[in-house]
Amino acid sequence: MKYHKLLENAKKPKGFWGKKMISSMNEGHYELTGWALDHINFERHYRVLDVGCGGGLTVSRIAERIGNGKVYGIDYSALCIKHSKAQNRKNILCNKVKIVLASVSSLPFEDCSFDVVTAVETYYFWPDKLNDLKEIYRVLKQNGRIMLVFEMLKTPEEPDKWKAVEDKVGIKTVTEEEIREMLAKAGFEDIETHKKDGTTWLCAIGVKK
Ligand SMILES: C[S@@+](CC[C@H](N)C(=O)[O-])C[C@H]1O[C@@H](n2cnc3c(N)ncnc32)[C@H](O)[C@@H]1O
Repeated sequence: MKYHKLLENAKKPKGFWGKKMISSMNEGHYELTGWALDHINFERHYRVLDVGCGGGLTVSRIAERIGNGKVYGIDYSALCIKHSKAQNRKNILCNKVKIVLASVSSLPFEDCSFDVVTAVETYYFWPDKLNDLKEIYRVLKQNGRIMLVFEMLKTPEEPDKWKAVEDKVGIKTVTEEEIREMLAKAGFEDIETHKKDGTTWLCAIGVKK
């Protein structure tokens, strides 16, 4: 029962179970996110956007890695915005972090605003994946990088590993090839994919040339 209620709130957390899901995501994605963030050398001055920021812990961890730069977090769940703001309260007060209610499909930022855009465990839910990737491309600076992070990769060895979650949440997990193809279609170049042994984790990085 608890597991099902949590899963129902993965797409857009709200209410009591949404709050539980936010804590569970902050905890459950901690190791995955740390592993993925290590694939980017964050420079001190970087402006970074975390899309689908959930409880805002990834935003806090990126803020630790940059010096005088700035981190933005967006999410379309009002509950996630509330929790992300609480999680990042001190950095918001000193203007190092800003949390904004918005959808990935229409980012409230000017063209060429960010050095890096991260998106952890959120791609599955996006309504129009190619256009949403193009929207991220728009807000990246030249040579800026997108980093998509997945816990639920579909692999040839275990194609049905995430079937129960797919059915319950109404999403499709992804393959490495699909993600490479989508990033290329959206205009990204120099695409790298990293997988962690013994898991179904994927970290995909593309560059806006
Ligand atoms: C499984 S949670 C992951 C949250 C966070 N990135 C983490 O790793 O803990 C997915 C998040 O993506 C957000 N999300 C889903 N679709 C979105 C969209 N179209 N625009 C913005 N945020 C979205 C949800 O509200 C939720 O917070």
